[in-house]
Amino acid sequence: MTAPLDTPSISELDLRALWHPLTQHKSLADSPLPLIVKGEGCYLEDAQGNRYLDAMAGLWCVNIGYGRRELAETAAAQMTELAYLAPTMTHAPGARLADRILTLLDWRGRVYFSSSGSEANEAAFKIARQYHMQAGKAGGASRYKIISRHRAYHGNTLGAMSATGQAERKIGYGPMAPGFIHIPPPYPYRAHAKLSPAEHGIACAQALEETIRYEGPETVAALLMEPIISGGGVLAPPDEYLPRVRAICDEYGVLLIFDEVVSGLGRTGELFGHWHWRVQPDIITMAKGLSSGYLPLAATAVQEHIFDAFLGEAGDLRHFRHINTFGGHPVSTAVGLRNLEIVEQEGLVENARRVGAYALTKLGALSAHPWVGDVRGRGLLLGVELVADKATKAPLGDADMLAILSRCKQAGVLLGRNGNTVPGLCNILIMAPPLVVTETEIDHIVAALAFALGER
Ligand SMILES: Cc1ncc(COP(=O)(O)O)c(C=O)c1O
Repeated sequence: MTAPLDTPSISELDLRALWHPLTQHKSLADSPLPLIVKGEGCYLEDAQGNRYLDAMAGLWCVNIGYGRRELAETAAAQMTELAYLAPTMTHAPGARLADRILTLLDWRGRVYFSSSGSEANEAAFKIARQYHMQAGKAGGASRYKIISRHRAYHGNTLGAMSATGQAERKIGYGPMAPGFIHIPPPYPYRAHAKLSPAEHGIACAQALEETIRYEGPETVAALLMEPIISGGGVLAPPDEYLPRVRAICDEYGVLLIFDEVVSGLGRTGELFGHWHWRVQPDIITMAKGLSSGYLPLAATAVQEHIFDAFLGEAGDLRHFRHINTFGGHPVSTAVGLRNLEIVEQEGLVENARRVGAYALTKLGALSAHPWVGDVRGRGLLLGVELVADKATKAPLGDADMLAILSRCKQAGVLLGRNGNTVPGLCNILIMAPPLVVTETEIDHIVAALAFALGER
């Protein structure tokens, strides 16, 4: 069917009606966004038939790749059978997925579902605070502060934004919620030259301990952290860091919450990012890869000792007084279950580990380029920090960063960047392709980046 002549094109509708996130619209009129019409595997295709290798898996979420009929069929079947149910009731895919997540974690515990990473973190904050009020331990109700780390993103809702350690995401939206405190994360590339990576990791853990002591341990509810900072610039800690962090949290009665929204479900070459260090948190949040982005789905998983503090008598208000209309949606959870089956059946965690190691080696070969300061990552969570001067590590400026991304796009590859994060350090290119990516596709990504960097 052809559209009548006066029907506006999608690009016109986009320009006049749609407000995109993280986008300066003034420049869109001159360089409109490509109209994407199809996705398959690691590729997106626009209306002109141009193909782009999506080296960001959307927003680090399309782990099983685009165009999987299995998920479409699961969604259609579930929608026909039971399209919605209030989360105060129960249905098979929700109960099964909660059990599956706990089995994967090897936990006795409970899973609370919501629809986004931000909501999963908000639930975690409230659970942590209410836990302390009801657990009958030192501090009790006075423990409300949440410590998190500079550089890390935890979401756009006011609490999750307050926990986020990225100043550029907060300018103009303050005041932030009170009770959120930030500490520095390990950042080996820019650590003090006299410290070994291990010493740097210990020093950062020390900063946590000092902060807890200065704030008063009886006021601190939880530490929220990504095992590996993702959107903040792909910062993996030295091996000494996480075990020390766990010990400090235990010593001061502070709950440890891992935000595995990006690093969970296989991205880093382990099913969960924290498995690299075998350190157990009290609470984990996850989203993105839980449904491979096919439908909104997020979860906050807690260990049984946390859940126990919420048991009581009817009407005594000890239960978790929190609800998400779309939390544990039957269609999302059915798709989530099928998605996890595919991740397992196709060995995608192992693929992320193997192909990720290959990608790290290939990207490492670009290190001779004068702008490539550091190449790092785990599995298929990869970062390339670009500098204008290797000796001083002066970050590459905005204009050059944008030009590189644009040349990668010209070469048919969509890369990410830690844009609008912390002032002066938005100089990290990010790669997080679908976990189905092949070595040939990695070669394509690395070739595009080499082209974009050009000869210097
Ligand atoms: C580590 C991390 N946590 C939380 C969030 C928030 O997730 P959402 O955008 O689904 O609310 C994100 C989003 O990118 C994230 O990267």
